[in-house]
Amino acid sequence: MTRERLIIFDTTLRDGEQSPGASMTRDEKLRIARALEKLRVDVIEAGFAISSPGDFEAVKAIAEVIKDSTVCSLSRAVRPDIERAAEALKKANSARIHTFIATSPIHMQYKLQMSPDEVVSQAVSAVKLARTFVSDVEFSLEDASRSEFDFMCRIIDAVIAAGAGTINLPDTVGYAEPQQFGAMVGSLIENVANADKAIFSVHCHNDLGLAVANSLTAVLNGARQVECTVNGLGERAGNASLEEIVMAVRTRKDRFPVETRIDPGHIVPASRLVSSITGFPVQPNKAIVGANAFAHESGIHQDGVLKHRETYEIMRAQDVGWGANRLVLGKLSGRAAFASRLEELGITFDSKEEMNLAFSRFKELADKKREIYDEDLQALVSEVQMAEASEKYALSRMEVLSRTGQAPHAELTLRISGREQAVQSDGDGPVDAVFKAIEKLAHSQTNLQLYSVNAVTEGTEAQGEVTVRLEKGGRIVNGQGADTDVLVASARAYLNALNLLESPNRLHPQMGGV
Ligand code: KIV
Ligand code: ZN
Repeated sequence: MTRERLIIFDTTLRDGEQSPGASMTRDEKLRIARALEKLRVDVIEAGFAISSPGDFEAVKAIAEVIKDSTVCSLSRAVRPDIERAAEALKKANSARIHTFIATSPIHMQYKLQMSPDEVVSQAVSAVKLARTFVSDVEFSLEDASRSEFDFMCRIIDAVIAAGAGTINLPDTVGYAEPQQFGAMVGSLIENVANADKAIFSVHCHNDLGLAVANSLTAVLNGARQVECTVNGLGERAGNASLEEIVMAVRTRKDRFPVETRIDPGHIVPASRLVSSITGFPVQPNKAIVGANAFAHESGIHQDGVLKHRETYEIMRAQDVGWGANRLVLGKLSGRAAFASRLEELGITFDSKEEMNLAFSRFKELADKKREIYDEDLQALVSEVQMAEASEKYALSRMEVLSRTGQAPHAELTLRISGREQAVQSDGDGPVDAVFKAIEKLAHSQTNLQLYSVNAVTEGTEAQGEVTVRLEKGGRIVNGQGADTDVLVASARAYLNALNLLESPNRLHPQMGGV
């Protein structure tokens, strides 16, 4: 069977970031982009450049450092978006502008309030304009799965003639089912006269849990690019999960006539990095990257695997990067060893001060924890980069008293806009006491939507990584903190969430008219 290339277009940094609470800083996005480049992703959608100055800077920084993947920015089909995307991508080794407009009757009538003719004409102008900046232009028909077939043929033909090299068919609202979606993709490829001049792509959302199935059926019907995200992160129920798509076509070579250039050995480290940066934990039974994905509980299974691995295992854990978190450093490791491991992880610092702070945090951690793994370093760097960002709230000191039969009591000293203030509170539990004390000073009027703790590595001495989700006026943020003391991690996570709420909100690409 001759195999065609399946292009893996990763949108963790754009659609993934549209998950409520998953917004990332420029440095965090850079770290993920480096992990995606290591994975050998073909295209990294780095962001939506016009959405905020922060996103523009992130796309620009990623375009400057990534050499082995194409770097892409999203833009609506309007001049300011396209110009901003082009500006951010200027220094990219290989750049793509991804422009889109909705094509379904419901979106055209109610959201855009435009006629189909106007939509075609705007799409064509957008593609032509984008082509004046880059040779690689992708056009998406937003809500394709609910669009009329003949209209899709018409607009696709027109944008290919205008210079679009990739045509993306999103199942924007996660409405499609595999047979129908696959047939739609196949028929479009067959019926659009100039279809051979473009690569057809799909972008599926997981509202019905069908994003991966829909994407794979599209591949069987001729799609040669899949848009996906690490851990299936993304708007609402998420996007098709990169690791599932990649491992499905790799494991079932008998069914899929394609191959990707992904190096699967970097899948698990990339998954952990995305989870740690966004604060979205990976469920234990998640395919490929969940903690239980390769764990055999039942005696019968264990017996079978020990006798002959293939009895119950269709993939090898080490092939997707399980066990890659090798023990790196300990108490006696010096600055050179620390710096060199960070470099291998693709972590760089903007200043010497930041590096010094990271090294002293590492020494503090090494005093509490004998073995330091890559995940510990990732969590530590996140903390340092957060601390270096101009923050309103920071933790200076805390003490928590928790005795059986007595209300837990927390005493904290916070630095608020540079000024130290002490505060104390009782609570229903120690975490509650800490949060109540913070709120006595912050008066944030937020709703606590989620509190979760995850061990960064194994063992009781592991760092606890805490995620705190706060909501205010419809805006949701996820704060994070890591420490061997989960109460300290909790306080830091809460303060981080408050700091995130202080940062300006971003423009959402799919809101309102273009
Ligand atoms: O889901 C969607 O339709 C999108 C487009 C902007 C590609 O994310
Ligand atoms: Zn999407």
